[in-house]
Amino acid sequence: MDIKKLTDQHIFNTYKRYPLAIQRAKGSWVWDDHGKKYLDFFSGLAVSGVGHAMPSVVAAIRAQAGKLLHASNLYYTEPAARLAEQLCKRSFADKVFFSNSGSEANECAIKLARRHGWKQGGRHEIIVFENSFHGRTLGALAATAQPKFHEGFGPLPEGFVVAKLNDLRSVERLINAKTTAILIEPIQGEGGIYAARKEFLGGLKNFARQSDLLLMFDEVQCGLGRMGHLFAYHYYGIEPDVLTLAKGLGGGMPIAATLATAKHADLLGPGDHGTTFGGNPVCAAAALAVLKLLTPRLIKNVQAQGDLLLEALRNLVANHESVKEVRGVGFMIGIELTVPGAPFVQAAREQGLLINCTQGNVLRFLPPLAMSNSELQFALRVLKCILQ
Ligand SMILES: Cc1ncc(COP(=O)(O)O)c(C=O)c1O
Repeated sequence: MDIKKLTDQHIFNTYKRYPLAIQRAKGSWVWDDHGKKYLDFFSGLAVSGVGHAMPSVVAAIRAQAGKLLHASNLYYTEPAARLAEQLCKRSFADKVFFSNSGSEANECAIKLARRHGWKQGGRHEIIVFENSFHGRTLGALAATAQPKFHEGFGPLPEGFVVAKLNDLRSVERLINAKTTAILIEPIQGEGGIYAARKEFLGGLKNFARQSDLLLMFDEVQCGLGRMGHLFAYHYYGIEPDVLTLAKGLGGGMPIAATLATAKHADLLGPGDHGTTFGGNPVCAAAALAVLKLLTPRLIKNVQAQGDLLLEALRNLVANHESVKEVRGVGFMIGIELTVPGAPFVQAAREQGLLINCTQGNVLRFLPPLAMSNSELQFALRVLKCILQ
C-alpha cells in the first residue's frame, strides 16, 4: 500500500507533509515505514512530551477502553472527575471544562470572557498579540493575530484587538469600556518562539486587576512541563484567571482543558457550552497517567537540559552567517535564520532527527521532556552537521 499516495488522494490537502510515513514510536524515537528510526526532537508537535507510547499511558488506555469508551456528558464518569481534581490540585484553578483540541479550549476561554463582559454591561473586546496563534476554529482564528491565517475566511467574529508583545503601552492604549479580557501565549510557539517578559505579564496582571479583565493564558503549546515548570505561569510566578491546555495533556490522545477559578468558571451554566466528546473516559485516563509522569524530577530535567541545549546551540551557531538569533525557554527553543529553514529540516531528517520550521525561517525544537543525555548529544551532533 502506498500510504503517501492514498493520503494525497483522499485527505484534504491542508498540511504540507514531510515525505515520511510514521509507523510506530516509543519514548523519544519514531520509526518510518522502511524501519528507519528518528529522534523526535519535536515531540509530535508538543504532544508526546512525556514520550511516545509510555507504558503507563498505554496501560491506562487499555484498562479504560476495556471498561468504558464513552458515556456522554449527561452522566458522571470517574476518569474525568479524577483528572479535573488533579489539574485543580496542581494549579490555581477550581474547575475545568474538557474539550478535544487547543482551539476548542480557547473557544471556551473566549466564551468565558464574553460572558464576563456581558455581565458587566456589554463589554466584549479581547486584547490579543501580534504573531499569536490560538487555533483554526473561527473564534480562535480571529484571536490569532497573523493575517496570513485569516485570508479568505472572513468575516471573522469581531471584538479582537491586537497589541504588541512586551509593550505595555500598546496594551494600555487598547483598554477601554468595552474590554473584557487579555489572551496571551506566555511564549509564542507558532509565531516563532517569542517569550513574554516577566515584567510584561506582571503589567498585564495589574491591568486585569484594575479594569476587572480576565487574564487568560494559552498554554496549549508551552504548558505541561515544556518551560521547566508544570505550567508556564509557574515559570513567571504570575497567575492567570483562565488557562488553556491541550497537546501534551493526553500523551497522544485528543483531550484539552480550560481551567478557571470557580468565580469565573461559574459564568457558564447548564446549556451555555458543551462538546460531545469532552472529558472522554479513555482520553481522561491517558491524561491522568501523563500527569503522574510529569514529576518534579522530570520537570527539573527540562530546566537543566534546556539550559544546556540553549547554551550548546548558541555555541554551535556563534559564527554562523545565516543565524540571526537562538532563543527560548526550557524545551521550547528556536533558531531564527536569515534564510529559509526547510532545507535544514530536510537535512536533519535525513540524518535521523525530526525538527520543524515555523514562520519560514525559525527552526523549532520541542524535545521530549524525558530526553536522555545521549539523545541530547545525538541531536547536537546532527545539528552541528547540518548547521555547518
Ligand atoms: C498556543 C496554541 N494554541 C492553540 C493551538 C491550537 O490547538 P489545536 O491544533 O489542538 O486546535 C495551538 C496549536 O498549535 C497552539 O500552539
